[in-house]
Amino acid sequence: MTMANLTDSTVWQQLAAHQQELATRTMTAMFAEDATRFDRFSLQACGLFLDYSKNRLDERGLSLLLELARRTGLEAGRDAMFAGEEINCTEKRAVLHTALRNVSGNPVRVNGHDVMPEVRDVLARMGVFCNAVRSGEWRGHTGKAIRSVVNIGIGGSDLGPVMVTRALQAYQSPELSSYFISNIDGAHSKDILATLDPETTLFVVASKTFTTQETLTNARTARRWLLAALKDQSAVASHFVAVSSKPELAAEFGIDPQNVFGFWDWVGGRYSLWSAVGLPIALAVGMDNFTALLQGAHDMDEHFRTAPLEENMPVLMALLGIWYRNFFGANSYAILPYSQRLDRLPAFLQQLDMESNGKSVQRDGRPCDYATGPIIWGEPGTNGQHAFYQLLHQSQELIPCDFLVAARADDLDPEHHNILLANVIAQSEALMTGKSDEQLRAELQSAGIEGAEQERLFAHKSFPGNRPSNTLVYASLTPGVLGSLIALYEHKVFCQGHIWNINSFDQWGVELGKQLASLILPELAPGAPVGCHDGSTQGLLALVKSLSK
Ligand code: F6P
Repeated sequence: MTMANLTDSTVWQQLAAHQQELATRTMTAMFAEDATRFDRFSLQACGLFLDYSKNRLDERGLSLLLELARRTGLEAGRDAMFAGEEINCTEKRAVLHTALRNVSGNPVRVNGHDVMPEVRDVLARMGVFCNAVRSGEWRGHTGKAIRSVVNIGIGGSDLGPVMVTRALQAYQSPELSSYFISNIDGAHSKDILATLDPETTLFVVASKTFTTQETLTNARTARRWLLAALKDQSAVASHFVAVSSKPELAAEFGIDPQNVFGFWDWVGGRYSLWSAVGLPIALAVGMDNFTALLQGAHDMDEHFRTAPLEENMPVLMALLGIWYRNFFGANSYAILPYSQRLDRLPAFLQQLDMESNGKSVQRDGRPCDYATGPIIWGEPGTNGQHAFYQLLHQSQELIPCDFLVAARADDLDPEHHNILLANVIAQSEALMTGKSDEQLRAELQSAGIEGAEQERLFAHKSFPGNRPSNTLVYASLTPGVLGSLIALYEHKVFCQGHIWNINSFDQWGVELGKQLASLILPELAPGAPVGCHDGSTQGLLALVKSLSK
């Protein structure tokens, strides 16, 4: 099958026809007919257990989806990515975040050049630096050890590090506190800097391009704050390091070239936490734990690269997403970690998925006549239950959900953890089984609600169920498991982008807003002329200028 006719292809049409057949079938009926459904629709890899049995899918649907994957050449596409081929076709780049965690010792070549020696060299430098900071050997300008690490970055230079650092709180050094400044809103830097001591603070300025307005502005503000206290320009050397694929620009900013950690244009921003962008993670949890994170991701890479498609966790999750997006019309997807420490996972996955697959043209520029990336959103459970789950259970929307949970309490209170576990298991059960009419009538009856009042409440209290979800369970959120989990979602996004025939590795859609903001900025100056805009934009500019006087 060529990419020219995805929706015309036989398998696509068979899937559409099969959806019609399944549209009225309930998952509870499918469980009733098949005692082995849980075993057959679940799998384990890299410390992760995926239960995908609570989906509106049967063997035939699954085999058609697997055929779709094969017909679109998913295996060859996957191999091309791992082999360093230029799969980012608009930026003419390889996509090799997998090389950053390639602990196998095998070479990875880009245009014939083995990139692994450079990868290992940066990791070794990160290790030396982390040990120096964490042991107190690295001193601030006035001779004190570092106590606070502030990452200044945005997008991929923020979300991965902040998400992982929070997730691995149990592994955090008690000697060091981690902070993340991303937003250009002055409140972000002001409120964080107000709590810090310049003598014991280290800034990591993270920007792949080292041109991002927010990051450079926040870095200049931090530098001013530091110099106002330490009153010596040379203090910058012991309080600022940088992470960038443009080390020359970091040096221009005034950061000692010895303290600049590089990475490469074949690492996309949203795939960069495995590179030196992970420095704040390594500072927080130590290089050994960072290495375990890389090992976990590598294990998932190996699973993705070698497992047959029917036993391949990222592939199965990708196909389920396509099933709901393209054949059930689901336009959003909820990420529901039952883990407070994974509170930034939904935000991280928003960038990973939406910046990668929020596209509407195919690789050759033709429009997609099918839906692509869904809206990704979510919050940790159980908080979400008391906020938006109402809509998951009773609205007209079909929203597939991923529940995530650790089986063990580890360092946390076991009583709390059992309640957490009970809730996450209850939610997927409630979404699927709903409540039968008989059960609801019996409940109303036993509450003394009868006759007309029972009829009046019946429809409001009804739970139709048949709402799909995946549940990912792991024993404990170790660095290795977290690495596998993140790589699982990276590969899921890759598979979907491949099948949709879009370039998951560029992000042109973020450019126009940046261009317009740079035109508008000088127009905000008092008395500056306002250029030619639409009526609303002119009106807003005039309003903020007059209100800010
Ligand atoms: O504006 C979007 C974006 O380019 C993201 O893709 C990227 O992660 C983020 O900005 C930050 O970019 P940089 O690391 O170059 O500062």
